[in-house]
Amino acid sequence: VIQVPYSARDEAAPAAMRGPQASAPQDARSSGLPAAIDDAIYGFMASRVLFTCQDTGLFESLSEPDGLTAEAAAALCGLHPGATARLLAASTSLGLTVKLDDGRYAVPSALRTYLSPSGERYLGGWLGHLASVTSRSFGALRDAVRTGEVQLSRVLGAPQDGFFRALYADEDRVTAFASSMWSLGFESSLELARHGSLPARGLLVDAGGGSGSFAIAAALVHPELSVIVVDRPELEPHFTRMAVRHGVTARARFLAADLFEAELPVADAYALGYILSDWSDEAGTRLLERAHGRIKPGGSIHVLERLFDDGGTSPRATALMDLCMLLETHGRHRTAGAYREWLERVGFGGVRVVRSSGDKHMICGSRP
Ligand SMILES: C[S@@+](CC[C@H](N)C(=O)[O-])C[C@H]1O[C@@H](n2cnc3c(N)ncnc32)[C@H](O)[C@@H]1O
Repeated sequence: VIQVPYSARDEAAPAAMRGPQASAPQDARSSGLPAAIDDAIYGFMASRVLFTCQDTGLFESLSEPDGLTAEAAAALCGLHPGATARLLAASTSLGLTVKLDDGRYAVPSALRTYLSPSGERYLGGWLGHLASVTSRSFGALRDAVRTGEVQLSRVLGAPQDGFFRALYADEDRVTAFASSMWSLGFESSLELARHGSLPARGLLVDAGGGSGSFAIAAALVHPELSVIVVDRPELEPHFTRMAVRHGVTARARFLAADLFEAELPVADAYALGYILSDWSDEAGTRLLERAHGRIKPGGSIHVLERLFDDGGTSPRATALMDLCMLLETHGRHRTAGAYREWLERVGFGGVRVVRSSGDKHMICGSRP
């Protein structure tokens, strides 16, 4: 779902919040429908425009400041020129590209870091995962709401049940998922690791740490801290690539093991990033208890999650991603208060919430 700029989204915005864009022609919306309905109707089409511009290489070719004509971009990407011109008109109406005075198109400079493969915050892996997995899951939303059952294996035609077995049956999906986890986590992880609740030295175990967004951020922020990511073997090459890229291989290691079965390392701190939201309350409690049993007395737990506000209906990204959890996993998103109570029930003390400027936040506590 595309976030439309505020001024274009709500004509009833207070004057002080409208800003200069408000006097622009009524560009983003001319359906005459109320904003909530208009956004919801056109949102899925907008998502497809985004995915297609990324997947065809158009964003990459339009990331040079001078931009290209639709014909030149189509030729570069091997696309049909007339259809490409129409796609670029749509992406420009969404603010994903701009049309310059001489008719060339370009990705706006503020978006290049997210949409150009060389950008530091490149979202390509996540967009690929959303296009090939999540958007298919959402096609089964009515079935999920009728039955309460997970839809992923059926939607993907995967032979085995279970989110990760179904997802990892295809190597391209593992790559897109590993890259999504990285781009959804690394920036916030750096911020959260700087907050000061992690041990400055000793060992941090990132249970289900994936491609290592939190473990590697922690190792970068704390030069005397060692980290181990415990995850399924499919993730090891993705973790290793990122550890090499960030120069932390001497202090960062991967342990291919099952979080529910393996003997986990004893450590000064454990992290669980986007793990508890994947599992039922019972399975999550087992994971928290297993971590509690392996954290040294006085050591700490760090749970990283999206959070619902207290009312349980916002922010929008959490509410929509909670439907992903419904469609694809046995988990759910929760409020900060629910995580706090959960950690306390398992025996952690001093539980507190640390918010990042992104949407991955941290609930930490200590083992008495
Ligand atoms: C939603 S991802 C989160 C990855 C990472 N913690 C992050 O925040 O970017 C969940 C991770 O749990 C791992 N995982 C799932 N089941 C597991 C199991 N039984 N044993 C080990 N890892 C598991 C997955 O492979 C995946 O990397």
